[in-house]
Amino acid sequence: MSNVDIDAKIPNNVDLAGDRRLQRALEQWQPKFVRWWEDLGPAAFKRNPVYLRTAVAVGQEGWANFDHVEMPDYRWGVFLAEPEPDRRIAFGDHKGEPVWQEVPGEYRSDLRRLIVVQGDTEPASVEQQRHLSLTAPSLYDMRNLFQVNVEEGRHLWAMVYLLHRYFGRDGRQEADEMLERHSGDPDNPRILGAFNEETPDWLSFFMFTYFTDRDGKYQLASLRESAFDPLSRTCDFMLKEEAHHMFVGATGVGRVVQRTIDLMHEHDTDDVQPHGGINLDVLQKYVNFHYSVSLDLFGAETSTNAANYFAAGLKGRFKEESRDDDHQLKSVYRLVPEATDDGIGTREVTQLAALNETLRDDYTEDCQKGVDRWNRSLADAGIDFRLRLPHAGFHRDVGTFRSRHVSPDGLLLSDEEWQANASSWLPTDADRAHVQSLMVGVTEPGKMAGWVAPPSRGIHQQPVDYEYVKI
Ligand SMILES: [Fe+2]
Ligand SMILES: [Fe+2]
Repeated sequence: MSNVDIDAKIPNNVDLAGDRRLQRALEQWQPKFVRWWEDLGPAAFKRNPVYLRTAVAVGQEGWANFDHVEMPDYRWGVFLAEPEPDRRIAFGDHKGEPVWQEVPGEYRSDLRRLIVVQGDTEPASVEQQRHLSLTAPSLYDMRNLFQVNVEEGRHLWAMVYLLHRYFGRDGRQEADEMLERHSGDPDNPRILGAFNEETPDWLSFFMFTYFTDRDGKYQLASLRESAFDPLSRTCDFMLKEEAHHMFVGATGVGRVVQRTIDLMHEHDTDDVQPHGGINLDVLQKYVNFHYSVSLDLFGAETSTNAANYFAAGLKGRFKEESRDDDHQLKSVYRLVPEATDDGIGTREVTQLAALNETLRDDYTEDCQKGVDRWNRSLADAGIDFRLRLPHAGFHRDVGTFRSRHVSPDGLLLSDEEWQANASSWLPTDADRAHVQSLMVGVTEPGKMAGWVAPPSRGIHQQPVDYEYVKI
């Protein structure tokens, strides 16, 4: 059992007090982080007490504490999951060897890169969402937004700890740069494209937490397999927090669907826009947009980098150990999509080459579950409309579908065909303007904005009308 030092300046279970140099270095980074939070974290309700979950332990018997906290006083800490005794590398060229407690010299720059790319997304999403608190549809939702934000901040801490502890001077430099790149900054943007777009409204926020945070889940889950044990244990614990972020997305979209159903029935119409709701076809366009940009985050169908990371033991597959193959993947094959001028087909490659595609498949299967749940609400309400995930080639900017036009059904289109139909597949300016027009902040406990249904229950056994944020 690692001991939790909860009262330290930086709460942790990694014995920071036993490594004074490291402790001092992180304590010097801490005020820079707090300044970043003040400048680029939530833009409104900065000092209001929020009913937040704070990680205080990592064990099975409860790891979190719930209480009202002013966000700048949130106790961002460093927590690694408990080590697994005699853990062995589960895949790649080093399969069967003991996992590493230090970074092997030959993998230093690759590991640093993986940690930096993951770490960079965490503060990026806080920056993207910073204006949303002003238009929160309820105090419950505002609280959930802030919960996601403080935990993304903690995930940055998790990556910064690894950089400081294992990567010396370059690691400290990278940690500083995490606070210097900013989402959407033309001179110094965040590393991944999708993290440079603002999250302009709450429907986008729910879609982002459903689709884009779920990419994060799959990236973390494959880093949890890493032979570099501290990275594995860090990601393991981050995944616990991440589950709530996806809950916010899944239930958020589900509540919008429910509200639309209610308005359709109440007014006996498919067009709920005049009644302050969001039409099902607009929801479908938002699904199309967020799902497709999230697919891009997995990279091209085949990737030498991903193959090298796997062979080296740095990054595995989702649930690596439960897979029934040789875990080397050099002589097992699979099909990947291939778009040519003649149409969309497939080609056969080694599974080692196709790791991005395999992770994307796992992701898609997971995304479908929420869609099925939303569709059950529609079916139960006697409505024929069904939401669906578009074809993998739709609206893609990475891989074989890049610079091709593909319909949601998977048909290769000419430029003209695409132009003629794009406005029925992706949110138009008018759709976005309508959604924007619905965004009004609601700050009375238990009250909801008119475009979204109330949640079925509150947070941590509190009632829905609990004062989640003290105004
Ligand atoms: Fe995160
Ligand atoms: Fe997240």
